[in-house]
Amino acid sequence: MEKIIIALDGHAGCGKSTTAKAVAKELNYVFIDTGAMYRAVTHNFLTNEVDIADINDVNKALSKISLKFVLNPSTGIGEVHVNGQNVEPFIRNMEITSRVSDVAAIKEVRVFCVKEQQTMGKDKGIVMDGRDIGTVVFPNAELKVFMTADVKVRAKRRLKEMESKGVSTSLEDVIADIENRDHIDSTRKESPLKKADDAVVVDTSGLTIEEQVASILKLAKAKIGA
Ligand code: CDP
Ligand code: CDP
Repeated sequence: MEKIIIALDGHAGCGKSTTAKAVAKELNYVFIDTGAMYRAVTHNFLTNEVDIADINDVNKALSKISLKFVLNPSTGIGEVHVNGQNVEPFIRNMEITSRVSDVAAIKEVRVFCVKEQQTMGKDKGIVMDGRDIGTVVFPNAELKVFMTADVKVRAKRRLKEMESKGVSTSLEDVIADIENRDHIDSTRKESPLKKADDAVVVDTSGLTIEEQVASILKLAKAKIGA
């Protein structure tokens, strides 16, 4: 059966990663969380005290980063490794989350990550989620979905997720983070978050994860001809 590229873009907390993971599993495709790559670069920059206002410092740091997804056999999900170290446990905290959009707005960082993403998708059979997959990384992707949802709904979901992981924060702080990142991501000069002209819009505000996954699977199967 023909393999395709499925690009899932959209705002923070719409359920892109959860959906991409489930769709990839069902189709036996590879799931690639591009946000994890920008988070991993941010983690590296913070650890090495890179001055993001100094482009020479940024380029020097990027030249020393080797980024890979390594499959975790117990979950079947690829985890992001930087220079051989699994950084997955360090990239989802509030510190990284609050800084990642500024790092992801840097042109050189985007060029670095996009090149890796295009290599990962060269054989197709991938579900990639992010902000610019349908517009920049794979403008010819066979299926493009643009997800959005009411900010309060997204923040409540995120808060629940964080509380279940023992992270204490407030709904106000989560709303502020999501609004701030959406703003930076949508207004940056380099590859801003925007709907591709040929993307299908899915508003997940009133959807359960199961409904969301089913709707994307239906679109994917129609494209694949399954
Ligand atoms: O999961 P969540 O929506 O909170 O974020 P993420 O997908 O992990 O992405 C974290 C951040 O990385 C986003 O807010 C963007 O600033 C950046 N990002 C990007 O610029 N381009 C992508 N393709 C993916 C993420
Ligand atoms: O990748 P993105 O930031 O778009 O969202 P996610 O990390 O997949 O989902 C954020 C949280 O919302 C997760 O805890 C999901 O389980 C939850 N979610 C939900 O409860 N209902 C949905 N319809 C979609 C996501």
